[in-house]
Amino acid sequence: MSSRPVYETPSLQRHRSGTMNKMGGIPALRPVSHIEGVDVEELVEKYSSPLFVYSERSIVDRYVQLRDQLERRWPKVQLAWSYKTCYLDAICRIYHREGSWAEAVSDMEVEKALRNGVPMDHIIFNGPHKTDPSLLAALRGGAKVNLDNFDEMARVEKLSEGAGLEASVGLRLNLAAGSIPRWDRFGFNLDSGQAWDAVRRMLGAGKLRLAGLHCHLGTFILDTAVYGEATKKIVAFANRLKKELGIVLEYIDLGGGFASKARLKSSYLPPEEITPSASQYAEAIGDALSELDYSPDQLPMLFLETGRGLIDEAGTLIATVLANKRLADGRRAVVLDAGVNLLYTSTWYRHDVVPTAPTSGAPEPTILFGPLCMNIDVVGENLMLPPLEVGSRVLIRPVGAYNVTQSMQFIHLRPAVVLVGQNGQVGVIRRAETLEDLTIGEQVPEWIGR
Ligand SMILES: Cc1ncc(COP(=O)(O)O)c(C=O)c1O
Repeated sequence: MSSRPVYETPSLQRHRSGTMNKMGGIPALRPVSHIEGVDVEELVEKYSSPLFVYSERSIVDRYVQLRDQLERRWPKVQLAWSYKTCYLDAICRIYHREGSWAEAVSDMEVEKALRNGVPMDHIIFNGPHKTDPSLLAALRGGAKVNLDNFDEMARVEKLSEGAGLEASVGLRLNLAAGSIPRWDRFGFNLDSGQAWDAVRRMLGAGKLRLAGLHCHLGTFILDTAVYGEATKKIVAFANRLKKELGIVLEYIDLGGGFASKARLKSSYLPPEEITPSASQYAEAIGDALSELDYSPDQLPMLFLETGRGLIDEAGTLIATVLANKRLADGRRAVVLDAGVNLLYTSTWYRHDVVPTAPTSGAPEPTILFGPLCMNIDVVGENLMLPPLEVGSRVLIRPVGAYNVTQSMQFIHLRPAVVLVGQNGQVGVIRRAETLEDLTIGEQVPEWIGR
């Protein structure tokens, strides 16, 4: 077969609003046939389509890079893998193997972390819904429990008193630091004085000890100054706690929120230009932490619960073209076997969609539908794509954060997830589901009959 490109007659394409962007070019459509050196066709042959593929190398590289950058700026750093971002055991165990603790926001996530071999005192327990039994086990085992509200504080006081524990807890804070939307539904508000009241209330009762402060500002925060501002406020609060109440904190936890290199629908600029690097985030945090009025032997541990920024680019979804269509208004549409059932982030990401084999024909604004018999199942709009043959594959990226944990058994079963190891080996980390997986908990009451 000749490797010379096929001649294509020049043609004019009408552009529609949404496809034109003077700030960034149309991404070049070079086909990508391999993921981490593994042939996509071979993967599909073996594990079917759609298929989630994770790269161990990418996971490890980003983890090491972030940890090293933070350690350059602060001497005591501990990352805690945000379980909800992707809690497949194999993924969690890579992070734990590299030294990460676990950050859990539910009983289930705590249990999963324990099963993954994480000791209770290496678990950070956040979230607005922690049950009594799991709270008690967490407090007994020395987990870092961050309280969300006054009701939870009273409950924890009662529980620890009942169990004869002298429990240590952290307080989750929320504050204005320039990020929009403001995540003020979690924790105690710092700016209004509520957080100060919470500390005084807690000390007044004398049942709990304050070990740390926690703050998760939101997600996909592109402005590193937001971290600088938030850390400054938390440091000022910590300095006041020490000066007026004699409290020396064991930890300051700045949550997650770092952006990945995904392309946002709301952003004209490409991710390469707007996503801060690990060192830029680390610098903003480190500069602000240096204002802490603590002696060198008292310095608190800096916890980070980074999720998306660590794993998004490690994940790719392979999908197959099911059909091509023309809509009533003339738009070209492509139907894929992967839809919003698997791509929760497609509501606000403009994912890269890349063919795996050479294509011919002029790129055209294309709408990508998934396989659901639902009008909402739109994976991408106005993507400049060449004609894609039925049966051909595309890679959708980045999809490593939140899509696997939030994918649904809706209309279609969930596909397999595989991991490409650092030596190019491929392992299944969750097999494709069967109808039995879907119906395993179902029961038909006897009055319904057979
Ligand atoms: C408490 C907490 N920590 C960490 C994270 C991880 O955030 P991200 O994936 O944006 O890094 C979240 C996500 O919402 C969170 O709620």
